[in-house]
Amino acid sequence: MFNPQTPSHPVPEDASDRYDSTAKTYDETVGASEKSIGVDRLRRKLVGQAEGHVLEVSAGTGPSLAHYNFKKVRSLTLLDQSAPMLEIARQKWYEIKERDLLAGRKPANVEFRVQSALDPIEGPKYAKDEKVDEPGKFDTVVQAHGLCSTAQPERLLQRLGEVVKRDGRILLLEHGHGFFGWLNLSLDLNAPMRADKYGCWWNKDIGALVRNSGLEIVKISRPWYHLGTTWWIELRKGHDAEQEHKIQQEVESPIKQHVMAQQQEAVQKRGWLW
Ligand SMILES: C[S@@+](CC[C@H](N)C(=O)[O-])C[C@H]1O[C@@H](n2cnc3c(N)ncnc32)[C@H](O)[C@@H]1O
Repeated sequence: MFNPQTPSHPVPEDASDRYDSTAKTYDETVGASEKSIGVDRLRRKLVGQAEGHVLEVSAGTGPSLAHYNFKKVRSLTLLDQSAPMLEIARQKWYEIKERDLLAGRKPANVEFRVQSALDPIEGPKYAKDEKVDEPGKFDTVVQAHGLCSTAQPERLLQRLGEVVKRDGRILLLEHGHGFFGWLNLSLDLNAPMRADKYGCWWNKDIGALVRNSGLEIVKISRPWYHLGTTWWIELRKGHDAEQEHKIQQEVESPIKQHVMAQQQEAVQKRGWLW
């Protein structure tokens, strides 16, 4: 279908390099429009649930920073592949830290990492000297509006599963296709223009991505007032699936051994006959 907004050049599936050039204006444009439609309220609620050693991926300019409850967050690692986006988050953190110091409060343990979340992610720096049951893993992993901006969303989700503890939580606030066909058609039509400008594909089927990730879905809720385009998701590593796989192997192996022994016997007998 013809859409005058569609760019005349092809837009790559991975348009995430756009964030490097839009970082300075990101908060005034995208950030401000999110606030006006209530995304910030949802973000505050989501981030408020984080505890222990926390990793936030695709952290961008750090709009979640102010919402963490550092009484229950032992450390926070903010990760993003765009250095200019993360630099703005770092500036925001310096201001919070300065306020804490002036008020006589001990600043929280916060670390910044410029890297792709598709690459292996190291565990929390601040937990290195602690005796923990699963070293190198985080208690909570958070991501807000990250699946829209990566060309490999399922891989990214799997990475989150790799770095979270067995009983840890993965908390996501994402956006994508909504409840209605007409709405999704409009998102589809305008997606290339938006991706080209902002680096975000807003027409993804978030439900399918999450289901295909292999992680266990604890909760999905989609506020009616955004017509289903906003996805609040809680996932777990899915140790039930891990456990099932182990049990399956344990059940299978004696059967397999028996079948293989019978096959060997049959081959030997045939050898005698031939
Ligand atoms: C839409 S912005 C969201 C930023 C922030 N979470 C927020 O809610 O405002 C998407 C962010 O994901 C980052 N990003 C995209 N792909 C990434 C990847 N593979 N690894 C890490 N960060 C990535 C981009 O650099 C950008 O900062």
